Amino acid sequence: SLQKLDNFLHRCVGTDVAAAQTETARTDESDETERHKSLHTLLEERQKQAERSVLISCQSRTSEKKFLKHLSRHGDVQKYFFYESYGLYAVVEFATRESVASLLEGTVIPFVSHESVVPFKSRLLSLRNLSSTDTPNQQSGHKCQPQTTIPINELIQRLSREESINQQLTFLTEAYQITEENSRLRFLVCSLLKDCAAAYFPECDIKPFGSTVNGFGKLGCDLDMFLDLDSISGWNVKMPKSGLSLEFQMKRANSERAVTQSILSVIGECVDQFGPGCVGVQKILNARCPLVRFAHQPSGFQCDLTANNRVAMKSTELLYLYGELDPRVRSLVFSVRCWARAHSITSSIPGAWITNFSLTVMVLFFLQKRNPPIIPTLDQLRDLAGPEDKCVIEGNDCTFVSDFSKIRLQSNTETLEKLLCEFFEFYSTFSFSRMSINIRKGTEQNKPEVAPLHIQNPFETSLNVSKNVNATQLDRFVALCQESSWLLQQNVTNVPSGSINPTPWGLATLLLPSQVAGIKSRKKMRREPASERIKGLLESLKNKNSAKRS
Ligand code: CTP
Ligand code: MG
Repeated sequence: SLQKLDNFLHRCVGTDVAAAQTETARTDESDETERHKSLHTLLEERQKQAERSVLISCQSRTSEKKFLKHLSRHGDVQKYFFYESYGLYAVVEFATRESVASLLEGTVIPFVSHESVVPFKSRLLSLRNLSSTDTPNQQSGHKCQPQTTIPINELIQRLSREESINQQLTFLTEAYQITEENSRLRFLVCSLLKDCAAAYFPECDIKPFGSTVNGFGKLGCDLDMFLDLDSISGWNVKMPKSGLSLEFQMKRANSERAVTQSILSVIGECVDQFGPGCVGVQKILNARCPLVRFAHQPSGFQCDLTANNRVAMKSTELLYLYGELDPRVRSLVFSVRCWARAHSITSSIPGAWITNFSLTVMVLFFLQKRNPPIIPTLDQLRDLAGPEDKCVIEGNDCTFVSDFSKIRLQSNTETLEKLLCEFFEFYSTFSFSRMSINIRKGTEQNKPEVAPLHIQNPFETSLNVSKNVNATQLDRFVALCQESSWLLQQNVTNVPSGSINPTPWGLATLLLPSQVAGIKSRKKMRREPASERIKGLLESLKNKNSAKRS
């Protein structure tokens, strides 16, 4: 029967066993609820899966079959997959947490010569193969799930083979978005980290936020996490009106910020000293939002851990909602983010650059400004909210509707191609010098303070999301919008050439190094004089157009 189980599991690689069963039973109606699953439900589901999962380094390259057989001695394996990150790793999800406990019970603390180990036990394990019958390099062709996006050059080629700009925009979204497996790995890393933090705060929770869960994350984006201590019991226990009652004696600090800093400092230290796989821990406690930054080596994620960051969770929820309302929202955001990265408008290093978050808000604002609007304003979403949606955080009104079915959209039928074109046009001529971008009102407002780029924070309305952006970076953004708008208006279409290396066209041309002198990205400076490159580009456009006519 073990053999049977094995065969069964083998067929289920990369699929969720339970989900596969419900898949067949699902009706159209439940499809609808599935599509509009609230972020809350999604988080809970993923969190539960993560708690039943382990992460295993499989250096010994044992056969998949043997590996599963070994694991299923502890209980049913619900789902598993392999990925590569400086070695082979497996994420294994059991059907119950008891199976994980049983697995850990039989796990050995390694003996290392000349070194000592910190005996902190986690669910990050290594597979050792001690049997002499297996040759260590017996690679059994584990199918690995990608955890990074395809390189930009390959993307450009793939896009150039698509037949329309609409298809290009859809392809890019599909190629870049976080996969099911990558999402599971992200939640698993949060869950592993929670085990560290739970040493101090057993009831705590570590939740991902930002692009990991807002629907706009691409493979390889950072992992933003937030330590949630609000849901621990005791905050809301009512003091009786009379008689005896007990309260906890607790250390006090001058401010909530000071408390956050001390908690993050201690947990940062714990992650640094005891957290297996966590390297390069930096405590950045004096930032506006204090954080601990580190790399989680086995997953390859760059992690940012914050605490007491409820507003960010709300803005994550809002972005998720906007992305779910209309598929054009996500496609446009993905394409604009990819375009911005290709031209170093955004960067992985903090600085005076526009951030992905700012860019996303700019896309949302643009979509609110269409006629008819594609998405509602935040004020409209607030007006649709029911009593259960009421939310005020540190004096900021963060209320907006959570029930998707209450939102009525206007019937705008513009194509993605049209929207991309209009996006570049819109920001080519936007009055950045006088106006502030405001998704709460859905119209530009007079700038309340001087800053080259002003984007009102949707919830902390006195803050500017893009305060860090300097005039040079804004100018580059505008110049690139102008260039991209011009390129798209050349109306070049795809000429099927059947070549393996098709000439870039449409969205693909927008991702090539900029042709406009002075706005080249710092990295991509070429020796060739600008005039040469412009000549080259015009030449290729001419060829395309004449091929189209003939
Ligand atoms: N955030 C915010 N205000 C800011 C910056 C960030 O409210 N000025 C919140 C947003 O919810 C954002 C999250 O913090 O989504 C994480 O910030 P960041 O990692 O900078 O952006 P992401 O949206 O995660 O995008 P990226 O893929 O670049 O990480
Ligand atoms: Mg992020």
